[in-house]
Amino acid sequence: MTKHDETFVPVGTSLLFENEMIRIWEVKLEPGERLGLHHHEYPYVVVSIEHGENRIRNQDGSVKDTVEPPGHWVVRPAGEIHDLSNVGSTRYINRLIELKYAPPVSADASISHLQRELNVGNAAPDLHELLIDAEGMEWRAKSLPGLYEKRLWSDERSGASISLVKFERGSGIPQPHKHASNQFMYCLSGRYEYQHSGLVLLPGHFYCNPKGAVHGPSVALEDSVLLEAYDGPHYPERPSWYTDEKDAH
Ligand SMILES: [Fe+2]
Ligand SMILES: [Fe+2]
Repeated sequence: MTKHDETFVPVGTSLLFENEMIRIWEVKLEPGERLGLHHHEYPYVVVSIEHGENRIRNQDGSVKDTVEPPGHWVVRPAGEIHDLSNVGSTRYINRLIELKYAPPVSADASISHLQRELNVGNAAPDLHELLIDAEGMEWRAKSLPGLYEKRLWSDERSGASISLVKFERGSGIPQPHKHASNQFMYCLSGRYEYQHSGLVLLPGHFYCNPKGAVHGPSVALEDSVLLEAYDGPHYPERPSWYTDEKDAH
């Protein structure tokens, strides 16, 4: 027991099994529910059982959004301190397996390591390869009617992201606006028009919209699917056509 142990909640919502080698937890979070700040003293494996759209809030203040379809797994090192919340619209369930045969990392050691990283302003980058079967992902409806997203990648430090977006015919961004970073699009299917300039994206077209450039409104002339990337935050502030703050990032 170290002086920081009482600061943290357990790494799962219920303990299912434990022996001298491993500990198996269930994490079950209803939409909007938080697990609480917890410390991983052992390396661990997480296997998703029910589809999760989660937000990991690290103790250094950085945030990472994840999409975890059933069967998705990840292996993580000991020493992480973070909170987990379900930001999706469905219940999330996983199995979290702690590898107890690895040497434990105390909460005190994890906190001093974190403080050293913060002091030099050089937190370790995530060096894990990422592979997502986007075909198998569910489209997430955004708070603008007719617009759906599959978030493929995001970087919490820069705000950069890459998504597949789908506009149903007749939907679009209703007002002129600008972005807080450079925007890139590649049209996979459909016809998508920027009405202020008359530019129409067709399958195979690449579009770049520089940071700060006023553009739009835009409309899908047919059901359209686009690969969309931003090299930083999407908007200076949440635009009025999104009622959900999450949709502006
Ligand atoms: Fe965790
Ligand atoms: Fe835009």
